[in-house]
Amino acid sequence: MGLWWIVVVAVLANTASAAVREYHWEVEYKFWWPDCNEGAVMTVNGQFPGPTIKAVAGDTIVVHLTNKLTTEGLVIHWHGIRQLGSPWADGAAGVTQCAINPGETFTYKFTVEKPGTHFYHGHYGMQRSAGLYGSLIVDVAKGQRERLRYDGEFNLLLSDWWHEPISSQELGLSSKPMRWIGEAQSILINGRGQFNCSLAAQFSNNNNNTSSLPMCTFKEGDQCAPQKLHVEPNKTYRIRLASTTALASLNLAIQGHKLVVVEADANYVTPFTTDDIDIYSGESYSVLLTTDQDPSQNYYISVGVRGRKPNTNQALTILNYVTAPASKLPSSPPPVTPRWDDFERSKNFSKKIFSAMGSPPPPKKYRKRLILLNTQNLIDGYTKWAINNVSLMTPATPYLGSVKYNLKLGFNRKSPPKTYRFDYDIMNPPPFPNTTTGNGIYVFPFNVTVDVILQNSNVLKGVVSEIHPWHLHGHDFWVLGYGDGKFKPGVDEKTYNLKNPPLRNTAILYPYGWTALRFVTDNPGVWFFHCHIEPHLHMGMGVVFAEGLNRIGKIPDEALGCGLTKQYLMNRHRG
Ligand code: C2O
Ligand code: CU
Repeated sequence: MGLWWIVVVAVLANTASAAVREYHWEVEYKFWWPDCNEGAVMTVNGQFPGPTIKAVAGDTIVVHLTNKLTTEGLVIHWHGIRQLGSPWADGAAGVTQCAINPGETFTYKFTVEKPGTHFYHGHYGMQRSAGLYGSLIVDVAKGQRERLRYDGEFNLLLSDWWHEPISSQELGLSSKPMRWIGEAQSILINGRGQFNCSLAAQFSNNNNNTSSLPMCTFKEGDQCAPQKLHVEPNKTYRIRLASTTALASLNLAIQGHKLVVVEADANYVTPFTTDDIDIYSGESYSVLLTTDQDPSQNYYISVGVRGRKPNTNQALTILNYVTAPASKLPSSPPPVTPRWDDFERSKNFSKKIFSAMGSPPPPKKYRKRLILLNTQNLIDGYTKWAINNVSLMTPATPYLGSVKYNLKLGFNRKSPPKTYRFDYDIMNPPPFPNTTTGNGIYVFPFNVTVDVILQNSNVLKGVVSEIHPWHLHGHDFWVLGYGDGKFKPGVDEKTYNLKNPPLRNTAILYPYGWTALRFVTDNPGVWFFHCHIEPHLHMGMGVVFAEGLNRIGKIPDEALGCGLTKQYLMNRHRG
């Protein structure tokens, strides 16, 4: 009886504090100096990065999004938000809605169920690369206790930046032969970086490849001036990290300080201590930092590229102990980013992440399984990425509308292959590199357990296999394990961690290896599952899942004003 009372009070307290947070956003291009060079960035209400949404668990978020771009459509995806009951608000163009036309306003409405570090970004063409992103931070509901203890918090949104506009990047990627975008010009921390100059340039003999760079000449207040983190001695801070990079895998370190990893993709993890943290596109983390170092000094925060041969300078900012002048430079060079191709180190980092005590364990068995081979291919000389030999091309009618209104011609109803031929040699370039485009989807029954095995392979030419951070919309999945080489059914399942695998929404597929994921189809809707590297997705590296199709609720007509759904809705209104 006593316990019941507590539960009732907790539920009431929760609903009582839940708020509706309403925003009016206008998106347009503006000239900006993200890395001390002028370029065009996509801004939200004139800001870059876009405004941070701060909410508490249980809140409803309403965003009236107006497209002020003159020639492009627009959508925004709320990365990490499950969209339970609001699949139409997921913001994936061609999957859950039509792109918003120039001049039009579209209203997103969804609830944020649980606390954690999320973000949002454009999900039409390569608009994320153009700077359309921002943070979405959810705190525990009022009256609930945050299980982490800290005195203050910071938010670092990490991204990469090119001087070439996305229109010509897109053109290059879809040209024959393909013109690769190359490595980023700069890494940005909260939208600020320094191209071809270094805060640390006075340390002439460090091995950070910054030594040859000139000193930066920005002034305080410039758009590219780094944001310093001002801290008091002997306190603990929560630093929220998220990566919206288009391409780069990053590593962050804070000179002289240990980091305690406590959250990954908005789920608590078993805390562990590290000197530096790998963070891939689509991931978010929280780390705790204790300011226990010499309070008369400042310290570098460095972010460098890993996973691909870096050709981008480290991004730097300063951890400023308020007991030292903010302008004082640290007394030694910045931390060196671990070697880019030390993949064993990268995998070891991933394998240190376990869910926190008390997290739900995965179901013991799966009902459906997909084994998805990732390959780089050609179609008539155009470079593509394909999954089980299908390169995804989303249709003109969003899937969600086609399945809701049963529009047979909206997409190919034949499901793509559930596995690949195991005699395929993943260690060498494809012998028959040709592939085809497709728009079929994987349809699952409601509330079943699905396993997905991602299988990596060699690219088209040379002895190379790339990193792919795979992100699933509408779900968290358990990361059951990683392995080298080809996944062996009936054998490799025995290596799964079924006890405390981390719950995440993004998982890394390492070169020449496999990654095993498990999730439950408990969210009626249509959900994108794709590589979070923007150019890879652009070249077809994704699949689409659908589940609980007869349980999809009402979809606002405004989400479906294109393709076959437009015609369907017009007829329905007439009849
Ligand atoms: Cu942040 Cu579909 O991605
Ligand atoms: Cu990829």
